[in-house]
Amino acid sequence: MSHAVNRNFLREMNAKRVYHPVAHPNELEAHPPHIIVKADGVHIYDDAGRRVIDACGGLWNVNLGYSNQPVKEAIARQLDELPYASSFKGTTNDRLIELSHTLTEMLQPEDMTRVFFTSGGSDSVETALRLARQYWKMEKQGERTKFLSLKRGYHGTHFGAASVNGNSTFRRAYEPLLPGCSHLPVPFDYRNVFNESDPAKLAELCLAAVEDEILFQGADTIAAFIAEPVLGAGGVIVPPADYWPKLRQLLDRHNILLIADEVVTGFGRSGAWFGSRGWGVKPDIMCFAKAITSGYFPMGAVTLNARIETAFKNNADTMGIISHGYTYTGHPVGCAAALACLAETTRLNLPANAATEGDYLLGRCRTLAEKHETIGNVRGKGLMFAMELVCDRAAKKPVGKAYVAELGDRLFEAGALVRLIGPLMVFSPPLVITRAQSDEIMAAVTTAFEGMRGDPRQ
Ligand SMILES: Cc1ncc(COP(=O)(O)O)c(C=O)c1O
Repeated sequence: MSHAVNRNFLREMNAKRVYHPVAHPNELEAHPPHIIVKADGVHIYDDAGRRVIDACGGLWNVNLGYSNQPVKEAIARQLDELPYASSFKGTTNDRLIELSHTLTEMLQPEDMTRVFFTSGGSDSVETALRLARQYWKMEKQGERTKFLSLKRGYHGTHFGAASVNGNSTFRRAYEPLLPGCSHLPVPFDYRNVFNESDPAKLAELCLAAVEDEILFQGADTIAAFIAEPVLGAGGVIVPPADYWPKLRQLLDRHNILLIADEVVTGFGRSGAWFGSRGWGVKPDIMCFAKAITSGYFPMGAVTLNARIETAFKNNADTMGIISHGYTYTGHPVGCAAALACLAETTRLNLPANAATEGDYLLGRCRTLAEKHETIGNVRGKGLMFAMELVCDRAAKKPVGKAYVAELGDRLFEAGALVRLIGPLMVFSPPLVITRAQSDEIMAAVTTAFEGMRGDPRQ
């Protein structure tokens, strides 16, 4: 098969045989995805040999870039030594134990004492929700089954995760979802129902709405509040600085667990080692995935604090059995990959690089916004930032679909893969990015904007 024929075959088969996440199959036939065949450092290559910088860092996960040798070697070594071992009753494995130790050491400031491994972010969220309910049953407060979360929050796609998701796109086609989930206003200063742009006032208003809902539902019916320290897929929303500390106090007053969904923010992306740590808050449960293995192996983890551990310790009856788990819980190859990733993240001090490069890139985006009317809002923290595109700045009206499609094509042509979520340009490059590579992203973004010809309203 010639290279050209092979490429046509791949394109055709992708359109004909594959269903992709978060896309309409017909739309993908009309606008085929790039076929990525190779990667190197922070660059990816498509099947036509085009090389672009990956400003998405995979899917917020490839924090170490694509060429980390210690991680690749750790995976290869582990495949030779032990490619799989079950961690269900009766067996465990050395890598799993090592990683549990490393994680609890890392998370000592948050008082995390136990770890439960999963295969990804949705699994981690599912695990957290389930263990939160179990906790209250063990505490003889079995009526505490409900969950609170934020509108625009994203927690994955299992029924549990989708039920706490705050975006109807991920809900409507799969309803009815879990009963007993309430979604509260997100403290987003650019768009909110209170029409409030002052961050401190907005935080107060949003927290008042949380308390109102707690009183309405009855605190003694609520198991946990789950949220991302910085919202990712919902539009890179950075809460005001006092939101999380005050949320923790509010939940404590009502004895409600706090679950931090750190699937994106865990291990440095927001510029702090953990998003919650960045806000000075200790959650009860933390969910991880993505950067824990930098995308080199599907893997996730949930950590639990001493409060939850004590409940399990004190509960000798069957309610204390963790009747939950996955075939790949504590997968030795995943754990080996994670150990290497965390060591590399520490050695390279990537949270600090995320803070520095994030500030720089945010500044560059703000400068660009001065030149282009369609950039209505620039926001972010560390190496998670976004530009929201509008066709009317005063009305904050989103740009049209055709404009977004043209921009996506121009960005790729100019040499950068940027994630477009509706009218949002979302950036989450690898945390190993250098200043020259940050400039490479901005050069492509600038070229793309300068080349735009379409009507922003279309
Ligand atoms: C904050 C958050 N939680 C959970 C998930 C779900 O993770 P996964 O796609 O690995 O199931 C994601 C995925 O992007 C996420 O961003």
